Amino acid sequence: MALAVHNIKELLQGKALLQEVTAKGWIRTFRSNRFIALNDGSTIHNIQCVVDFENTPEETLKRLTTGAAIAVTGTLVESQGRGQKFEIQVSKLEVLGDSDPETYPIQPKKHSLEFLREKAHLRVRTNTFGAVMRVRSALSFAIHQYFRQNDFFYVNTPIITGSDAEGAGEMFRVSALDAKNPPLNEEGEVDYKKDFFGKETNLTVSGQLEAETFAMGLGKVYTFGPTFRAENSNTSRHLAEFWMIEPEVAFMDLDGNMDLAEDFIKYVLKYVLDHCGDDLEFLENRLLQEEKSKPQNERSEMTLREKIRFVLDNNFKRVSYTEAIDILKNSKPNKKKKFQYLIEEWGADLQSEHERYLVEKHFKAPVILFDYPAKIKAFYMRLNEDGNTVRAMDILFPGIGEIVGGSQREERLDVLMEKVKEMGIDEKELWWYLDLRKFGTAVHSGFGLGFERLVLFATGMTNIRDVIPFPRTPQNAEF
Ligand code: 4AD
Ligand code: MG
Repeated sequence: MALAVHNIKELLQGKALLQEVTAKGWIRTFRSNRFIALNDGSTIHNIQCVVDFENTPEETLKRLTTGAAIAVTGTLVESQGRGQKFEIQVSKLEVLGDSDPETYPIQPKKHSLEFLREKAHLRVRTNTFGAVMRVRSALSFAIHQYFRQNDFFYVNTPIITGSDAEGAGEMFRVSALDAKNPPLNEEGEVDYKKDFFGKETNLTVSGQLEAETFAMGLGKVYTFGPTFRAENSNTSRHLAEFWMIEPEVAFMDLDGNMDLAEDFIKYVLKYVLDHCGDDLEFLENRLLQEEKSKPQNERSEMTLREKIRFVLDNNFKRVSYTEAIDILKNSKPNKKKKFQYLIEEWGADLQSEHERYLVEKHFKAPVILFDYPAKIKAFYMRLNEDGNTVRAMDILFPGIGEIVGGSQREERLDVLMEKVKEMGIDEKELWWYLDLRKFGTAVHSGFGLGFERLVLFATGMTNIRDVIPFPRTPQNAEF
């Protein structure tokens, strides 16, 4: 009989029952000199490996410590013990890589998420991070699958760019100049003409502008890549490096954009419900434990999977910015001055406290806000007839706030030019973007979904640093 190499996920499905199998993984626990709980990352569950300790050398048994990498070979049998259906009766055991039980940081006990952030190179070996990262991977696959099924093309937009898509000026410079001794121009300023690209360049904040060029040729496209923002916001929702999904569609207006975003989000969340049951169950229980330490009135009424199902089963509430301002102005926290930023008049930028009030307290459902004041939105959004608002939309999620930002794009050259001038944008930098409005311009729309914010929602985690492998935040680029 050929020796089968299975991962633990397959073994726990009993696929090789009564056969000789080999499993390789990392020891989670070893107890009574007999039972190894082995995990290889393929599933949240460990497989129990029963060691024949009488016939195993003492030195080997000593090396079976938490964190060690081992290979076990033995027969897969139905377990007599409680807690698992199958186990391996070990006949051969090999320690592949020892671990030092004194200094290995991931002990078989509960560690705080803060502690684990400092051990990000090892935290994926914990149940929580294993589950989060498997869900993240599944979501990423579902995203590609959704677009593929709907005839979108995947486009890789550049990471190094010369333009500031969002016009917020929060960019990381990319330069090959000697920082200590840069070439200077006649005005005594750094001469970027002498830099690698012959101009100032930055890490992109969004692939949208380039994606638009592709939509105006391939029709339906999407990007899924890293984006960078040098905003100094040390919050549980912001990263300096995050992943964004940006579909862009020719001949689609804002209503179509809202439909697409809602359908897309529901599809990928459904995929996770259907394919990540074990991990969601674990994360749900984790959340329930966490909730117990909160005061009664702050506890969530729904479990993790109930929250996901709730999103699937309900239409997102579509509300104009103007309606939202009315609601907020008359809301209790505004009248009682409980908001940090009080809503006094139309035109105010919404803070996450307002977004969360609308979603969690007022509508109790995901909300799509649309038709924002032009003044608080980016230059490329299509101006409405009223001359004051633009065809923007943000999707707000419970516990998260803004998860999607998108718009119908300004396709009229003259209107766009006026905006570019008004906002003081260098039109020479954007010549190619403006060209799209000269040659076969058409209505088109798109949006950006913050991938980590989606992972936050799907996993019930509360800090964005815990849903990306190696977070980049102010003062932190370890690993
Ligand atoms: O709303 P934003 O800034 O929109 C754009 O960049 C558009 N160009 C998208 C488009 O229309 N193609 O960002 C989109 C989303 C936000 O809704 C949020 O989910 C996420 O990206 N996001 C961040 N996620 C983590 N950390 C940050 N610093 C983020 N900034 C934005
Ligand atoms: Mg936004």
